[in-house]
Amino acid sequence: KLAAAEAIQIEKPDLAAATKRIFEIDSESDERIVVKGWVQQLRVQKGLAFMVVRDGTGYLQVVLSGDLANCARTQTLTLESTVAVYGKIHSLPEGKHAPGNRELVADYYDVIGLAPGGQDAFTNKVQEGADPSLLMDQRHLTLRGETLSSVMKVRQAVLDGFRAVFKDLHLTEVTPPCMVQTQVEGGSTLFKFEYYGEDAYLTQSSQLYLETLLPSLGDVFCIQESFRAERSHTRRHLSEYTHLESELAFLSFDEFLTHIETVIVRAVEYVLEDPIAGPLVQKLNPGFEKPKLPFLRMTYEEALKWLNDHEITNEEGKPFEFGDDIAEAEERKMTDAINQPILLNKFPLTLKSFYMKKTPEDARVTESVDVLMPGVGEIVGGSMRIDDTDELLEGFKREGISPEPYYWYIDQRRYGTCPHGGYGLGVERLLAWLCNRYTVRDCSLYPRYTGRCKP
Ligand code: 4AD
Repeated sequence: KLAAAEAIQIEKPDLAAATKRIFEIDSESDERIVVKGWVQQLRVQKGLAFMVVRDGTGYLQVVLSGDLANCARTQTLTLESTVAVYGKIHSLPEGKHAPGNRELVADYYDVIGLAPGGQDAFTNKVQEGADPSLLMDQRHLTLRGETLSSVMKVRQAVLDGFRAVFKDLHLTEVTPPCMVQTQVEGGSTLFKFEYYGEDAYLTQSSQLYLETLLPSLGDVFCIQESFRAERSHTRRHLSEYTHLESELAFLSFDEFLTHIETVIVRAVEYVLEDPIAGPLVQKLNPGFEKPKLPFLRMTYEEALKWLNDHEITNEEGKPFEFGDDIAEAEERKMTDAINQPILLNKFPLTLKSFYMKKTPEDARVTESVDVLMPGVGEIVGGSMRIDDTDELLEGFKREGISPEPYYWYIDQRRYGTCPHGGYGLGVERLLAWLCNRYTVRDCSLYPRYTGRCKP
């Protein structure tokens, strides 16, 4: 059969063709075009073959017929090979379906890179339902799939959306260092390394640096990797994640909460209106709608009452008491039951970091907030910051942290202090919520977590 296929000669027509990427193809045009991309789907029959080619800007069905279908090149073609296809665009016959309701009727094509078949075929490497760890070893290949690549496209729109909203609000984007000598969120999750003979860490949060920039640049934000040596193996913890953080000067706690919910909703609006990302969100998370403003505001103490009223117990199986941490599972039960975004606020001082400002009415609790989303739980953590030097020094003392390496952070209070607050949003967690993914691992390009640092 192959010998017969090999006997078929196909010649490249000596005709002009305009090079097009899939997004720029005009379905109405009669022009002869050439499209280059990867073979995503392939169906070869006698006298007729179909492939779906993708180029990162879209998907295009290609039809090969006659000798072009029967020749050896097509009979031995494999998924994930690269091709350059020449031909004209036709609208689809009645009752047929293909991306964009059109197809490229090829008069010729070249194989640029033939992918392996047989044992090493692409489909053998990325079998659905295979052991997740084996699939993770093949991340470079699974990223070619429709789901993961869609999430990554939405991810880009999310970052664009936040940048657009922040630009509108006159925030300046900055790039703080990733190699640091201070902690922000507790010593237990620091990744430590040797830095020219000194101890240093990978950053857990750029917050402290953002605070120092308020007098220099005004309100600021960054989109930077943060690193946490998390021992917990959960579906929402990564060892490296993309941290979107912002710091704002001269505002009240209430204005701070309003800022957070507004920025999230406006960024989501941007994504939904994006011609590429909007439909992808709907495909990944059918029926998704942007959340309504304002978000439900709930204090920590109200949450404890809600949990106790619903007979959800603390980690020791007892009713919640003031000072108890609301762990991930309990937090999610509550968020899923309430089924709308929650601004959970005013956490006890004892549960929070050294820098958090106390509320004026109750010194046991802080002006702090977590944003909780159904399906994921916490996607944002933030607070108003202590703006008084002595009070900050007390905070260091309480947490047993030496203030010495923080002299530059303390100076922010000494040289023209101001009321201020900020927050950090986990980009992968927001994506897990927006794209309805079970784990944040599906929202990170090459996820890092306990035991995983490759590819
Ligand atoms: O609540 P966190 O620890 O707050 C801070 O780091 C503050 N210093 C931020 C600030 O105020 N500028 O982290 C903020 C958010 C969390 O709500 C979560 O979305 C995400 O960062 N996050 C993680 N995402 C993935 N994997 C992890 N291990 C994460 N740890 C935190």
